[in-house]
Amino acid sequence: AKIKEVNFVKSSGRPKDCPKDDRPEFAMLGRSNVGKSSLINFLVRKKDVALTSKKPGKTQLINHFLVNKSWYIVDLPGYGFANAPDSARMDWSSFTKGYFLNRESLVSVLLLIDASVPPQKIDLDCANWLGRNNIPMTFVFTKCDKMKGGKGRRPDENIRAFHELIRESYRVHPAWIMTSSVTGLGRDELLLHMSQLRNY
Ligand code: GTP
Ligand code: MG
Repeated sequence: AKIKEVNFVKSSGRPKDCPKDDRPEFAMLGRSNVGKSSLINFLVRKKDVALTSKKPGKTQLINHFLVNKSWYIVDLPGYGFANAPDSARMDWSSFTKGYFLNRESLVSVLLLIDASVPPQKIDLDCANWLGRNNIPMTFVFTKCDKMKGGKGRRPDENIRAFHELIRESYRVHPAWIMTSSVTGLGRDELLLHMSQLRNY
């Protein structure tokens, strides 16, 4: 599962502009600021393959990155962010139809969920939508290094609560992985999981 090479291929404004290619791909999905771009950099061990920002809404296009000339990681705009400039704002409903339902080379959606906060309705809605539409998915919990003291809840408690809330939506519970792009937690596990799915 070694990553030797990552090449940015293209940014697409619409699903139909995505590369015409049948090499397997994984799409990073999640709320704005959950750490999608950071996770890509963490996986490929480069600081600036995908642009990150403290300000939500940094990623505005569908960005295809080709790994080892054999599979893609796709960085998507975050959902739950309405303040992007009109010209760049994603039409979420046509996006879901056009990309998730029709992209045949999509091996799994990596649904990123911030483990430092309690379950958010928008993430639950998204997980339920993907489940209902039988879109293969992996839960990737991010920011697991953020241990809240005092009254705040801990990542493992937030993760358990999330699982409880979506338990009814799946016949088979999706695979899930805890990560931190700060400490490196979960990197090997996630890369192994992705390589197993690609060879399936
Ligand atoms: P959009 O492109 O706006 O949708 O955001 P994004 O999901 O790509 O988030 P991005 O990777 O830009 O990260 C947002 C912020 O979260 C940045 O300040 C990151 O440094 C921080 N962050 C990302 N991952 C982690 C993590 O594992 N731990 C901690 N503590 N912070 C993180
Ligand atoms: Mg981003």
